[in-house]
Amino acid sequence: MLAGKRILLIIGGGIAAYKVLDLIRRLRERGAAVTPVMTRAAGQFVTPLSVSALAEEKVYSDLFDLTDEAEMGHIQLSRVADLVLVAPATADLMAKMATGAADDLASTLLLATDTPVMIAPAMNVRMWQHAATQRNLATLLADGVRVTGPNEGGMACGEFGPGRMSEPLEIVAAIEATLGGGALQGKHVVVTSGPTHEPIDPVRYIANRSSGAQGTALAAALRDLGAQVSFVTGPATVPPPAGVEVITVDTAREMRAAVLGALPADAAIFAAAVADWRVAVASDRKIKKTKDGLPQLSFVENPDILSEVSQMPEGRPALVVGFAAETDDVVKNATAKRARKGCDWIVANDVSPETGIMGGDENAVTLITSDGAETWERMGKTQVARQLADRIAAALAD
Ligand code: C5P
Repeated sequence: MLAGKRILLIIGGGIAAYKVLDLIRRLRERGAAVTPVMTRAAGQFVTPLSVSALAEEKVYSDLFDLTDEAEMGHIQLSRVADLVLVAPATADLMAKMATGAADDLASTLLLATDTPVMIAPAMNVRMWQHAATQRNLATLLADGVRVTGPNEGGMACGEFGPGRMSEPLEIVAAIEATLGGGALQGKHVVVTSGPTHEPIDPVRYIANRSSGAQGTALAAALRDLGAQVSFVTGPATVPPPAGVEVITVDTAREMRAAVLGALPADAAIFAAAVADWRVAVASDRKIKKTKDGLPQLSFVENPDILSEVSQMPEGRPALVVGFAAETDDVVKNATAKRARKGCDWIVANDVSPETGIMGGDENAVTLITSDGAETWERMGKTQVARQLADRIAAALAD
């Protein structure tokens, strides 16, 4: 809920500005007041009339309008809000913010404000990936600006990739997390997700069918409760969530290093499907087909990250959660796994092919804790993630 909060919404000039009309509605539904500011370019995409009608407030757009003493001055306007949100944050607005330019009302407000600032970038994929934009992004992050998105997907310009503005509800969730009230505010949670790829040679690898869907949904749910999330992901098919720190890895050993590097944390959730073994010595050249028979691969065990973190003598997160994908005797096997690994909880699921869970949208989960096994109804992975995030928040509050 955002009751009593005021958002100063700076609308940039990009096609994603149309989503801002819905965003204003969503913010108002949650009790927030919205003070809209439009750049000149924003007026090419949405009209001040529609923005003003949805916000039920005057739209500000001209720097010199405000110099009239009868009006609110720009310094005052920049400070009336609990949060300044720039949506869509165009490449141009990001560049102005990063350099401190102040040549119109929007950029002047951004320079004058003393309240938290969040941006929702939206631009063509090449503009987003351009070294200049990435430099500006790094500067803004270092300045303490919060960033939500961009998402990956098809774009209005017909290209595909990162650059789509976060959806209105994702932006609302990021604002709720920033403005507090979230049960995990101030907590740091590490989440592993996705499969790992273990090389055989430079072109071949061992992998598994994990999509990363459950880990990604969980990271988003934890973020929505206000947690600072370090998301360590193998090569997943589902894109990582917005608003979390994403650390991409390929192998189990890289995942281990990334997890240890991300600690300390209040909780660590191991949703990744880590390969149990790797090829002992991966060839640095492509293994050739020969007449002398088939290649002989020998395997060694990968580090068990969950066990290692669960049994850390010092700096162990207060809550360590593992996952167990089982095809039979789910509760018995998962209970034994909890004891063997030394973690606090195991989230067990039946991944027998007939359940359709692996790679699907739904999950049927049994939560195993020191109190025993608790079987949840089958539900969507997002719903499982929300329910788990609530339980994690309750455990960390104890
Ligand atoms: O032993 P098993 O692979 O079934 O254990 C599954 C749990 O352990 C998951 O939480 C998984 O993320 C974690 N794990 C790990 N490192 C490994 C293997 C599994 O963290 N090498």
